[in-house]
Amino acid sequence: VIDIRKLYADTGYFTYDPGFTSTGSCESTITYIDGDKGILRHRGYAIDDLAEKADFLEVCYLLIYGELPNKAERDKFSADITMHTMVHEQMRNFYNGFRRDAHPMAIMCGSVGAMSAFYHDSTDISDPNQRLISAYRLIAKMPTIAAMAYKYSIGQPFQYPNNALSYSENFLAMMFGVPCEKYNVNPVLAKAMDRILILHADHEQNASTSTVRLAGSSGANPFACIAAGIASLWGPAHGGANEAVLKMLKQIGDVKNIPDFVNKAKDKNDPFRLMGFGHRVYKNYDPRAKVMQQTCHEVLKELNVQDPLLDVAQELERIAREDEYFVEKKLYPNVDFYSGIIFKAMGIPESMFTVLFAVARTVGWIAQWKEMIEDPSQKIGRPRQLFTGDVEREFKEVQNR
Ligand code: ACO
Repeated sequence: VIDIRKLYADTGYFTYDPGFTSTGSCESTITYIDGDKGILRHRGYAIDDLAEKADFLEVCYLLIYGELPNKAERDKFSADITMHTMVHEQMRNFYNGFRRDAHPMAIMCGSVGAMSAFYHDSTDISDPNQRLISAYRLIAKMPTIAAMAYKYSIGQPFQYPNNALSYSENFLAMMFGVPCEKYNVNPVLAKAMDRILILHADHEQNASTSTVRLAGSSGANPFACIAAGIASLWGPAHGGANEAVLKMLKQIGDVKNIPDFVNKAKDKNDPFRLMGFGHRVYKNYDPRAKVMQQTCHEVLKELNVQDPLLDVAQELERIAREDEYFVEKKLYPNVDFYSGIIFKAMGIPESMFTVLFAVARTVGWIAQWKEMIEDPSQKIGRPRQLFTGDVEREFKEVQNR
């Protein structure tokens, strides 16, 4: 590894690396990925183990504090998070300013950014206690804010959190309960939701996390930084892919149409790509996709749903994995490939898919933000550029141009 800071200071050279394909931006101890082997670990723990054996709040604790909590720590953390699940009552009015047909991700960008106005008593980033409170507030309130975005879009009343429920149960209850207290928790669905949140919790320096770090490097408050992360996540090349996958599967419609779409994805004159395939870091099967596929079968079985889109997805995966183009370019299904089918079976509309990703990723963003702020070598993020324009031109008055 070359210490670019020193090299630049000594020589004036800098690297030109569009898309940052080979530029490390920070040191981190949170998430380890070996893309060639398809390994993902948080603080050393394998993602499959966490998804199977831990609950989401334990993983949140792990990402923030670096250790899995013992029983007392887990109970206290859970109680502390629960204390923050409600949002400021004034935020209800804020929602009313949005059009009912607004995309929920647009509402998320706005309402999470607005948290800096509602919770400015935890925006002093030089105070470790305020940093922690803002982290707790974000983790606790995200499901409430997301469920409010959904309820607003379908014209139903907002539901207050039910703190007798677990994190994932409460989220489902706020989404589907009318009222929240009457919601009958299905343990299989609650477990599936918890697992989905764990699978999305962190993924080191992806576009949205890097956005959060870059925004935070200037000293911006954590709510503003997470709003920036949400905006970055929205794109179809990143978190928006789960919504795009379902649209694509519907468009394919039938297994007999798959070869046409595979050929389209291989055609370099066609911008179409197989959504939910490929990854910047994984050049092997995304370990999250395996757990997601298994969860997909469990949820569909529990709900007695036979979704033809699952047949299309499985056949598409089979064909792509035998196709020379996808094999050679090491394009495998990623975490987004099967999640949409699960969400659809649960009754979650497509426009909410990326919102769920944002709810889960909030802990990763805030853990990474906190790690950066607490790193003494942290500097404002400021990439260089390769200037290709005119260096100097003579100014002409408007009548002479
Ligand atoms: N379908 C068809 N071809 C693909 C696909 C795909 N899904 N993904 C990559 N390729 C091809 C590219 O055309 C390129 O081919 P070339 O070498 O002949 O030019 C090659 O594979 C490398 O692709 P890049 O775009 O250079 O790879 P990059 O690392 O920049 O992009 C990305 C990764 C954005 C994930 C890409 O694979 C993609 O667009 N996938 C579909 C969208 C998606 O599923 N995004 C979710 C990512 S996971 C997440 O954010 C949670």
